[in-house]
Amino acid sequence: MIVSNPTINSLKKLKDSIYLLECVSPELAEISQPGQFFNIKINETLFPLLRRPFSICDIQGDSIFFMFEIHGEGTRQLAAKEKGETLDLIGPLGNGFELEGDYKTAVIIAGGIGTAPFPLLTKRLKGKKEILTFIGARDGNSVSTYGLENYSISTDDGSVGFHGTVLQNFVNSLPDIDKSRIKVFACGPNAMLRELQKMVNHYDLDCQISTECAMACGFGICQGCPVESHNGDKYLLVCSDGPVFNAREIKL
Ligand SMILES: Cc1cc2nc3c(=O)[nH]c(=O)nc-3n(C[C@H](O)[C@H](O)[C@H](O)COP(=O)(O)OP(=O)(O)OC[C@H]3O[C@@H](n4cnc5c(N)ncnc54)[C@H](O)[C@@H]3O)c2cc1C
Ligand code: FES
Repeated sequence: MIVSNPTINSLKKLKDSIYLLECVSPELAEISQPGQFFNIKINETLFPLLRRPFSICDIQGDSIFFMFEIHGEGTRQLAAKEKGETLDLIGPLGNGFELEGDYKTAVIIAGGIGTAPFPLLTKRLKGKKEILTFIGARDGNSVSTYGLENYSISTDDGSVGFHGTVLQNFVNSLPDIDKSRIKVFACGPNAMLRELQKMVNHYDLDCQISTECAMACGFGICQGCPVESHNGDKYLLVCSDGPVFNAREIKL
């Protein structure tokens, strides 16, 4: 874990309220892994007081990229940053996705801004595994395909792609996929992940989920991000035991 102040090199608006922020740090680009995150201090004032967690979206050369959606005051201020300003980062934090394994096809399931960790994961798996990506969003204005490949889109309002949820779209495709040789990587709202947990139990699929929760310290000190283990015998911390868990490991 490193505390650093890399310089912002670009900030692009990808969709209505989705942005891609690039900062330059050879050191962080070298060590960051898909599924890990950084805790970003938005500014030097007291508001927002707490750092905000963002997944590592992509790495290109010495640049590290974050993709974020405007949610509240912190992300609104982040979207107003300019090239040449510095970012105050702590990270990389958390465990990241386990990419190794005897599977043929990586199935990526991303709901909303849950697409954020998958450009880097796609890059790391490309040429080693077949990749199938399912993207779900509210509507066409909320769909980000940045850095993703071989994808199928679904929207809640049917304005783009399959009319329905990302999980319905995935289940419809299951008959065409060799279920014995897949590993599922998912990120999205907890409601989506809860449904996915039932599904992977039913179909007996290997699955890793990246979970979201409000965080403070981001590295296991404040105990502010507990999640109950599957059998209820202990609490795990999303920031340091996760944010990526085996889908069978936790109760959401
Ligand atoms: C490990 C991890 C990775 C994430 N990666 C991304 C990403 O790549 N892109 C992205 O757009 N968002 C990501 N999020 C969610 C992002 O952190 C929240 O959208 C952001 O903190 C909201 O801050 P705000 O000030 O704009 O919103 P506000 O609503 O003003 O935030 C108020 C408070 O609620 C907390 N909070 C609210 N919603 C969330 C949430 N969904 N998750 C965590 N804390 C929340 C904030 O920490 C803050 O303390 C991630 C969350 C986690 C836990
Ligand atoms: S955010 Fe402090 S322990 Fe997880």
